[in-house]
Amino acid sequence: MKKIEISTEVFVYDDLNELREIEIELLEKAEEALAKAYAPYSEFLVGSAVLLENGEILNGANQENAAYSTCICAERTVLSAAATIFPKIKPVLLSVVVKNTNKQQDKPAAPCGECRQYIFEVESRFQSEIPILMKAQSNKIYKVKSASQLLPLAFQKSDLI
Ligand code: THU
Repeated sequence: MKKIEISTEVFVYDDLNELREIEIELLEKAEEALAKAYAPYSEFLVGSAVLLENGEILNGANQENAAYSTCICAERTVLSAAATIFPKIKPVLLSVVVKNTNKQQDKPAAPCGECRQYIFEVESRFQSEIPILMKAQSNKIYKVKSASQLLPLAFQKSDLI
């Protein structure tokens, strides 16, 4: 028997000014997208923005449904929009901002498991890591360098061959 240890790096910032200008802009675009959330069931708003290699920025938000399992998270909403509008352009940075309409939320939330798998696939497709910025309603920010930091032992294309 041998034990494999897998570690994750999460960078924690307490001040927006510690970030690069483009990172701040991308968080602002995710914050703006909170207004596009359709979340009458959870009342939990999630906005996400993606920066593409050509400089385009797209944003989107969670879209809920009375049949709960049909809900689409903000990250998958925006990444599938990017793949539809700019199918050949590589996403290079992703931001996620959350807002709980029933309580002040200071701690950033990380993408759910399904979104981690989705972002991982986009990274594999373009063979390029996508750093992810996470923020709630305070100046605390989490950053990981890639979806694989959030998804150790990811199921991937090579597992199918
Ligand atoms: N949600 C997202 O949009 N992204 C995530 O990564 C986690 C959860 C949404 C789904 C649902 O509309 C609400 O947050 C509560 O789970």
